[in-house]
Amino acid sequence: MTDQPLQTDLEAIVRDARGEMEHSSTPEALESWRVSYLGRRGRLTLLLRSLASLSLEERRTVGAEANRAKAQLEQLLEQRQQALKQETSRLLQEGRIDVTLPGRPVPLGRLHPITQTVREICAAFVSMGFDAVEGPEVEWEHYNFDALNIPRDHPARDMWDTLWVDWTDPTSQQRRMLLRTHTSPMQARVMEKTRPPVRVVVPGRVYRYEASDATHEWHFTQVEGLAVDERITFADMKGTLYEFAHRIFGADRKVRFRCDYFPFVEPGAEMAIDCFACQGKGCRICKDTGWIEIMGAGMVHPKVLDGVGYDPSVYTGFAFGLGVERIAMLKYGIEDIRLFYANDVRFLRQF
Ligand code: DAH
Repeated sequence: MTDQPLQTDLEAIVRDARGEMEHSSTPEALESWRVSYLGRRGRLTLLLRSLASLSLEERRTVGAEANRAKAQLEQLLEQRQQALKQETSRLLQEGRIDVTLPGRPVPLGRLHPITQTVREICAAFVSMGFDAVEGPEVEWEHYNFDALNIPRDHPARDMWDTLWVDWTDPTSQQRRMLLRTHTSPMQARVMEKTRPPVRVVVPGRVYRYEASDATHEWHFTQVEGLAVDERITFADMKGTLYEFAHRIFGADRKVRFRCDYFPFVEPGAEMAIDCFACQGKGCRICKDTGWIEIMGAGMVHPKVLDGVGYDPSVYTGFAFGLGVERIAMLKYGIEDIRLFYANDVRFLRQF
């Protein structure tokens, strides 16, 4: 072995070390530089160790040079560390790093007012033993209508202006799809899948083929409710909905049930609360009636029970459905439903 290649190696190491040092400007970079050249397995350390195998003559010349190189690199490191320290304290002194500066605020998002209201409504029912479940927004005509005792060509279909989906089931022209017009189709879906007792609430988006105005949107949110078991009565329904009204609108609310027609319940009812704004005296919010209608409800129609394989002579139940936007508008005094979906953060930020 001649001293030629070792010397070349030595020069290369020093050159690389100096070059790399140029770009090392953090304490971490300096440490990794030290490890890769002067550390126990560093390039220069390994070279120094290999000198042992040289002849005495060679060791003397190359060894001396290698030791000099080592001293140089150590000095370089030392200088660089000093410089870095000075630079840091200079920056601190100049106040460029103001460690007393308050952190930048991270903008926090929040839940949409309708999401908040959905959760509040569901929580009221969940605390009374209901489960919350969700269902498909693109629905079969069967679940949206027929299973709910609303046969094709029955005038009751006019109660829901429907957005049909332009799609035909290849296996049957008769099976049509639509954007669900209400959350009621989940009544049949849930009952088909489970045996009584059933107690569910179903929040979700629904769609209507309708022009928007201050109180109508072509899409909005409903919460459906369903309770089926042996011996469930209209009184259970009144008690449950009374409790709900108190939780959402205050413990001094009165409730009123009046006859109404929905094909999937019998008897059917509309539920109202006395106006919380005027305590029933009559004002703009209750349109001078003293009452505010908040949902439809009723005893599940025997035909609906029969259709899902529940024996109507054994099981009875009640169902209800409410519009979430309407509840939120009443609660917060919002006069135009379209504000919920205009994506104006100035509006949304208030909730
Ligand atoms: N699905 C009805 C609608 O959208 C609301 C409704 C009324 C739901 C009565 C019910 C009910 O479960 O019993 O107009």
